Amino acid sequence: MKSWAGRKIVSRVLLSACGFAMIGCAESPPQNPTGWKVVPVESLTESQKEQQKRALAAKDAMFEALMARLQQAMSEHGAGGAVRVCQEEAPKIAEKISQEKGLAIGRTSFKLRNPNNRPPDWAATLVTARTSQPTVLAHSDGRLATLLPIQVKAQCLMCHGKEDNIPDEVKTALKERYPNDAATGFAEGDLRGWFWVEVPAIQ
Ligand code: HEC
Repeated sequence: MKSWAGRKIVSRVLLSACGFAMIGCAESPPQNPTGWKVVPVESLTESQKEQQKRALAAKDAMFEALMARLQQAMSEHGAGGAVRVCQEEAPKIAEKISQEKGLAIGRTSFKLRNPNNRPPDWAATLVTARTSQPTVLAHSDGRLATLLPIQVKAQCLMCHGKEDNIPDEVKTALKERYPNDAATGFAEGDLRGWFWVEVPAIQ
């Protein structure tokens, strides 16, 4: 049996080896640090396909709810007022759909308006890489996650477009509510961000 001092030396050697490995890895992201692994869509198992179907249905429901609310807010309050409605209601819509569907859903981007919309850990490297393909990840514990690209459409430009696309009332509302807004300067067809969905393991 090793003495206490002996163990201490062993763990110190291990620690410095890990430290070295981490420095060595600094330039390329660590492989699979959180237990998540990208799975090609054609290799999904039956239960993963079922989970992905639930994820896509939740995304459709959230997209529809957001669009309906946005249109209503625009006609009732104009573009400036719609910014307020978006701020108040987008997080609630995500929460409601997460609960109804028994999963977690949200939106994220590499250029955020609301800092609370930063990506979950499993999505961080894909977001930095601005992946434009729908991506599926599986966790070793059975969870499934997916990142679904969102493109900029003409009707997004008044709030996410370039300087001269954005009406003054929207500029004012954005300045007031999102002092660190990074989500402007987009053009039609650009990648704006993603829906992310995390589906629990099938029991
Ligand atoms: C009336 C203004 C308005 C319009 C039009 C609008 N958005 Fe937004 N968008 C916002 C606001 C405000 C937020 C921040 C919501 C929050 O606080 O969670 C936001 C947030 C987002 C986010 C979440 C990431 C982030 O930056 O926080 C995405 C993705 C997004 N919008 C995409 C779109 C797309 C795509 C369209 C067009 C189909 C669109 N938006 C149209 C105002 C708008």
